[in-house]
Amino acid sequence: KPQAVIFDLDGVITDTAHLHFVAWRNVAAEVGIMIDEKFNAELKGISRMASLERILHHGGKDAAFDLSAREALAGRKNALYVDSLSQLTPQSVLPGMTSLLHTLKAQGIKTGLASVSLNAPAILTALGLQSHFDFCADASRLKRSKPDPEIFLAACEGLKVDPARCIGIEDAQAGIEAINASGMLSVGIGVGLKHADLLLDSTEELTWPRLEAFWNQQQR
Ligand code: BG6
Ligand code: MG
Repeated sequence: KPQAVIFDLDGVITDTAHLHFVAWRNVAAEVGIMIDEKFNAELKGISRMASLERILHHGGKDAAFDLSAREALAGRKNALYVDSLSQLTPQSVLPGMTSLLHTLKAQGIKTGLASVSLNAPAILTALGLQSHFDFCADASRLKRSKPDPEIFLAACEGLKVDPARCIGIEDAQAGIEAINASGMLSVGIGVGLKHADLLLDSTEELTWPRLEAFWNQQQR
């Protein structure tokens, strides 16, 4: 058995990716930049400021905003995003995830959270999942964003587990790269992800029997 399973939040536990997109689309439009869902996929797992930098670059406006103007834009995006989080309830947990968290606990496998979102604690509370994780990495203490493995290594350290004995779960390409670089086994959720050790279409397929079979197969 693995010692721990470490989860990304946005897009794995709940579908906030769309809420991030709507908030960014509004702020980008204010400064004359159009973004679509396809471009948004590149923002998954990327921190707030780094996302803004990618959007400005996408619109050819890298040089148009100084640091304080960028901070104001990022602040407006976050205010819109935090407003939209009031929609979240325990019903917003993606299919199968609450039951998977319970099963892992019953199996004696630790659970961790590795989200770069500064809103992660508020989201867990809205979903009613605060007590379901043995350790949540603190995004505010990170020096490097995904694809750097720092956040997954911080989660392993907090859980006191060996990355080589753990599974990480992600919906973002940057997140898969981060898991792979940490030495954990990677599980990707969603189509089109590259380099995942196991790729599943949706969280409905993410069950303990599926993870156990994958783990055993990798140990041979
Ligand atoms: C990640 C999301 O989980 O958190 C990104 O995939 C987001 O889209 C990042 O930019 C930072 O979130 P927040 O809530 O701190 O702005
Ligand atoms: Mg994600």
